Amino acid sequence: MRLILLGAPGAGKGTIAEIIRARLNIPTISTGNILREAILNRTKLGRVAKPYIDAGKLVPDNVIIELIKNRLSEADCKNGFILDGVPRTAAQAAALDEIGLNIDAVLMVEASDEVIERRLSGRRVCKCCGATYHLKNKPPRKENQCDSCGGALVRRADDTPEIIRDRLKVYHDKTKPLIEYYSNKDILLTVDGQKNIEETKDHVFSVLGIMERL
Ligand code: AP5
Repeated sequence: MRLILLGAPGAGKGTIAEIIRARLNIPTISTGNILREAILNRTKLGRVAKPYIDAGKLVPDNVIIELIKNRLSEADCKNGFILDGVPRTAAQAAALDEIGLNIDAVLMVEASDEVIERRLSGRRVCKCCGATYHLKNKPPRKENQCDSCGGALVRRADDTPEIIRDRLKVYHDKTKPLIEYYSNKDILLTVDGQKNIEETKDHVFSVLGIMERL
């Protein structure tokens, strides 16, 4: 299955990607995670991306398009993939079309700005492996410690109220128009992102026509 997850920052794209990945065993390609890892490792890509991410702005299209083309050419994408956070602009969507990806479905995750602000202010991520938690909705078993690798949990640098507002504005200006783009291609499916995580899991599987217990 070849899927795109579309939606505002904090709508729950990463959480849904993890649910689908665990069920279908296909890789998630999150441009945000790739860029944050590059920043952590101080690579050339990381140096280019850092000022944009810190300011809540989009990294330039040419950088993202090259990154995603390279990643999609890797062997693990042969049997399907989940694109999380890409495309985010008309130019990125056109570039994916040029590669001829034959996307099966675009899941549009809907959540209000109020829900998003609550989710992002309570989000914590593992410093080592990037796993995502929420102080109330998805707490770790031990306070401030990642369940998977034991790493310390921190707040993402772009999860401050001012940067969240900037990221939401960028989403409304640049990414929201893609809803119409994919709706016109007749591959857009809508997911109610405001349900709790367990309900969201059932909802996503039902929207995709996946039976949970085969
Ligand atoms: P990126 O990392 O992609 O961030 P984003 O799109 O802003 O999305 P988030 O990761 O913040 O949220 P999410 O929707 O995945 O929500 P999550 O599941 O974590 O991008 C970061 C930056 O990188 C961008 O600003 C840009 O600079 C750059 N970038 C990345 N891709 C780019 C591109 N293609 N082009 C240009 N620049 C790019 O959930 C949020 C919280 O809510 C968590 O704590 C979670 O536990 C909780 N939660 C999730 N679902 C539920 C639920 N159903 N109920 C209760 N709680 C929930």
